[in-house]
Amino acid sequence: MARLAGKPGVPCPCRRGARMVARQLFPAAVHRKLIMHHTILGRTGLRVSVAGLGCGGFSKLGLNAGKTEDEAARLILEAVDLGINFIDTAAAYGTEGVVGRALKSIPRDQVVIATKAFVHRNNEWWTPERVVASLDNSLRLMGTDHVDVFSLHGVKPDEYDYARDTLGPALAEQKAKGKIRHIGITEFPETDFSHALLSCAVRDPLWEVVMVAFHMMHQGARQSVFPLTQANGIGTLLMFVVRSIFADLARIAREMRELAAKGLVEKWLGETDDPLGFLVHEAGAATITEAAYRFARHEPGANVVLFGTGDAAHLRTNVASLLKPPLPEADRARLVALFGHLTNGTGLDGHPPAAH
Ligand SMILES: NC(=O)c1ccc[n+]([C@@H]2O[C@H](COP(=O)([O-])OP(=O)(O)OC[C@H]3O[C@@H](n4cnc5c(N)ncnc54)[C@H](OP(=O)(O)O)[C@@H]3O)[C@@H](O)[C@H]2O)c1
Repeated sequence: MARLAGKPGVPCPCRRGARMVARQLFPAAVHRKLIMHHTILGRTGLRVSVAGLGCGGFSKLGLNAGKTEDEAARLILEAVDLGINFIDTAAAYGTEGVVGRALKSIPRDQVVIATKAFVHRNNEWWTPERVVASLDNSLRLMGTDHVDVFSLHGVKPDEYDYARDTLGPALAEQKAKGKIRHIGITEFPETDFSHALLSCAVRDPLWEVVMVAFHMMHQGARQSVFPLTQANGIGTLLMFVVRSIFADLARIAREMRELAAKGLVEKWLGETDDPLGFLVHEAGAATITEAAYRFARHEPGANVVLFGTGDAAHLRTNVASLLKPPLPEADRARLVALFGHLTNGTGLDGHPPAAH
């Protein structure tokens, strides 16, 4: 069996290295005729795939399910072979080393690598020195001399002034040195249901990229984030598009019953086991999960839809979903009418499903 670069029997990295390796690892049957769509990530000018591979979430490329680092790195290679060129990781995920393994087989300029460092965790404010040390460690683990997007990670609204005024200058300095190409910030959706953090950040010129939670039952970014990211040329990365709700029909029904009982959604939605079933029909989506990806992907202002997985079949299905056209307008409009007002944090889990 072919191995990752750096191991015996591995082709040397070259311009088409990733594709060559991935084609050896995966049978021809999986190389469908899908052609990736690209977009420009705001004023960074980066040309990025509309599908982005998240190396965190509950899957962490499968490491959380017991996969090895080699298996996880192979998943990255398969993603690249499917046309994904945006890879999102973070110091906190424990997957930067895996990204580094994959990068040995991928020409560096063929992928856009994003990573992150915290601002405040466990009652400790991260100093500029600590953030720079984190960046340097990320570069070391990934075996690269620069990251394309370096973001402050999961920033809460009351941490914003410190992030911008104390850490911002250090990030700008690292950018001037070439270790960071573009500066970003990601919100903390688990508690910031109204995008209070990003509502401020999109007005400040420091940030070139933001990561925002957006999904069928959490649509607030349409009003509070996307108008200004578009006006100010800020690139957007979407997270929580599926997370642990939109691949779990029983959970959708359960949450819908609770929302209906609170009067937050129409009563009938709480009286059926398949409240989002109206999305699945011949001219519409094949599954609820597909509907979730298509809904987010075609939202005006959305650049890259991130998804995490440790499962090669899910990887391929998700890419295929993201390359499908928008949902039929009647379905999209119905989702907006039914759920566009929700700001209660449905589906914004901070813990794996097992913890619930
Ligand atoms: N504040 C932040 O900066 C922040 C917070 C959260 C996430 N992120 C980033 O965003 C990325 C995406 O995270 P997310 O929060 O949106 O959640 P996610 O990791 O995309 O969650 C999707 C979950 O559903 C499963 N799944 C994926 N495709 C599926 C399919 N086709 N059918 C059934 N199940 C499927 C995955 O498990 P399987 O392994 O079984 O496929 C995964 O656990 C992360 O990896 C991370 O890079 C950033």
